[in-house]
Amino acid sequence: MNLFKKSLTALAICAVSAGVTLAQAAPIELKFAHVVAENTPKGQMAIKFRDLVAERLAGKVEVKVFPNSQLFGDNKVLEAMLLGDVQLAAPSLSKFQKYTKSLQIFDLPFLFKDMGAVERFQSSAAGQNMLSSMSDKGLIGLGYLHNGMKQLSASDPLRVPADANGKKFRIMTSDVLQAQFEAVEAVPLKKPFSEVFTLLQTRAIDGQENTWSNIYSKKFFEVQPYITESNHGVLDYLVITSAEFWMGLDENVRTELKKALDEAIAHGNAIAAQKAMDDKQAIIDSRRSEVISLTDAERSQWVEAMKPVWSQFAAEIGQDNIDAAISSNN
Ligand code: SIN
Repeated sequence: MNLFKKSLTALAICAVSAGVTLAQAAPIELKFAHVVAENTPKGQMAIKFRDLVAERLAGKVEVKVFPNSQLFGDNKVLEAMLLGDVQLAAPSLSKFQKYTKSLQIFDLPFLFKDMGAVERFQSSAAGQNMLSSMSDKGLIGLGYLHNGMKQLSASDPLRVPADANGKKFRIMTSDVLQAQFEAVEAVPLKKPFSEVFTLLQTRAIDGQENTWSNIYSKKFFEVQPYITESNHGVLDYLVITSAEFWMGLDENVRTELKKALDEAIAHGNAIAAQKAMDDKQAIIDSRRSEVISLTDAERSQWVEAMKPVWSQFAAEIGQDNIDAAISSNN
């Protein structure tokens, strides 16, 4: 080989190894997909996580957040995660029944008296065990994130269960929520979050259940003249990743990511309660929707009508888990 050819070969080897080095140095892309607006507890938590990772793992990991169902709706995101198309999501706890039955506990109506009880249950041994309830399906729960208690919105005032008879309500993909609305002889329809506004606006459905922050940020209050402050259930999230992605990370990176995530969750949780109050007030101030407060006697009627749902799902959820949730109310 003459000198010219030798130099070319050496250059080529250098270029190839430089390419390998460059490829190895490219940051890991972590896509975080969710369905809500950015001005919500989950939206803010995702932004905080992205920013903390940019600060602490610059050049190693880059988080890209996709809000408002831009990348996947909740009904597709877990399948996409198992295929490696998205690495992080935080679907509502109502959207996991295909993968685990235990999380259905969070949908039982009137089980948790307030968000303090939800927090105590999530931190208990029973709540923490549920984080790993999908490990056999390749999914790892990394932590719970709060949104808040759900309210009922509708095109007509809902004061007692009979007011819901025959009315169509959008629900998340949960059999417990289906049973909850059937218990008051309403018609539940499982629909993606991204379709709710249009379904309400066109009067294809009569109502829906959601938190103050979702009702406000997605403008449901503009097309629903009545909101009953029922606090009948909780809408919280599970931050989830795939075991293949998470366990494939370098240990130091994984530790740093978990730390950033815990801080971002704490940030989201800290603003959730405030947002619930602020967004409720903003809805009242808008005068687009009347907020109905229930008397004790009216509320008791809803409890009495919906509580039998607990025993329908006790075998799937586990009575011991339900007992642990009940004791978190004290
Ligand atoms: C969410 O808060 O992530 C969406 C809840 C819903 O589907 O109603």
